[in-house]
Amino acid sequence: MNKNAKAVEIAKDIHWVGAFDPDLRVFDLILKTANGTTYNAYVVRGSEGVAVIDTVKEEFSDAFFERLEQVVAYEDITAVILNHLEPDHVGAAPELMRRAPQARIYVSNRGLKLLNATLKDELEMYAYTLTNDGDQVSLGDRTLTFVHTPYLHWPETKCTWVEDEKILFSCDVFGSHFCDERLYNDLVGDFRFSFEYYFKHIMRPFKRFVLEAMDKIEPLEPALIAPSHGPILRDHPMEYVRSYRSLSASRLPNEMEGKEKSLLIFYMSAYGATADMARSVYEGASDVDGVRVSLYDLQGGETDPFVDLIEEADCLVFGSPTINGDAVKPVWDVLASLISIETKGKFGAAFGSYGWSGEAVPMIEDRLRGLKMRVPEKGVRIKFHPTEQELEDCTAFGRSIAETLCGKAKPKVVDFADL
Ligand SMILES: Cc1cc2nc3c(=O)[nH]c(=O)nc-3n(C[C@H](O)[C@H](O)[C@H](O)COP(=O)(O)O)c2cc1C
Repeated sequence: MNKNAKAVEIAKDIHWVGAFDPDLRVFDLILKTANGTTYNAYVVRGSEGVAVIDTVKEEFSDAFFERLEQVVAYEDITAVILNHLEPDHVGAAPELMRRAPQARIYVSNRGLKLLNATLKDELEMYAYTLTNDGDQVSLGDRTLTFVHTPYLHWPETKCTWVEDEKILFSCDVFGSHFCDERLYNDLVGDFRFSFEYYFKHIMRPFKRFVLEAMDKIEPLEPALIAPSHGPILRDHPMEYVRSYRSLSASRLPNEMEGKEKSLLIFYMSAYGATADMARSVYEGASDVDGVRVSLYDLQGGETDPFVDLIEEADCLVFGSPTINGDAVKPVWDVLASLISIETKGKFGAAFGSYGWSGEAVPMIEDRLRGLKMRVPEKGVRIKFHPTEQELEDCTAFGRSIAETLCGKAKPKVVDFADL
């Protein structure tokens, strides 16, 4: 036996049986992990049953089973609770079910297709229950309650609550990629950057849902939060709940929040043609009351701060010349970075100067639609430098978008086959 593979009792008859992955440097393609990560799994024993909550990434199954066997015999496991069906939590679940086939699986009601994809044909051999928010499982003297937290960060994610000890098994919620074998937040190194970085990359696109989840979790006042990655939060756990709420709150200055719509125009220009268009679009949009309009030359900015602005904006307008049949890279860099925020339902538009083929504008519009934004106006394309009349067209374009944004004009349906 690996002498380090010890289960850790985190409360009476409740054990951590996860695995350490200190050497991981990139997680899920998008997250850097300077300290590696942990895959946390737990065992809760009651007088009439034993529940396993989550498992580990498949490659770490040996450590998980080694720890699991220290605290429970497979035949005594009555419940396997899968809070979230991402492979880093259900990697060892198929093997666990082979070893404990009598156990009943619990997944949230949205998780069935993912459960099917995880266990494949083997699923039919096991009993499973699809849970709703608030459903309970009795282990005799202990009861587990499911707290559904959809979209934190997959549609089927839930947490599991043990009322008596006030422990929340929160899966990815309040998690961080930070591997430290001392396990508890008051014993490990400083992991604040990791906690916030994890929030930014995993939870941020779902801020709306985070706030709904905090409405459910705050009144529970957990005394200990046991997430599926990183430190177990036993020292001031509510600080982490408050942190999620503040990280999800609007950061707009008070004078703006709720009073005005925000319209941002981003542009790039090699010879000044698209820049002239941008200024006219800006003037037109600025004519409309109730909209705060901002104009930014992407050449002079970093992507990240722009993404922060975009998160709170109502409308995004991008201007790009066509260069070699495409929009320019800084525009794509911003558009590619928008996966970390919610863009659905925002208004969007594009404009740009071109020489002969003019692909940039429709390509940007396609991307905006791909981000589930509304594109009510056909974008303006102008050959080389705009004439006075064409600049007036740009002004009208800006005004029209701003009016649509304020509900002063009905969103138009554009047939993009016209482009
Ligand atoms: C390197 C280069 C490549 C270009 N490729 C295209 C192209 O593929 N299609 C097109 O319509 N125009 C093309 N153009 C023309 C520009 O889109 C045109 O000059 C435009 O007016 C530039 O706008 P700007 O002044 O805002 O930079 C190209 C121009 C340059 C300099």
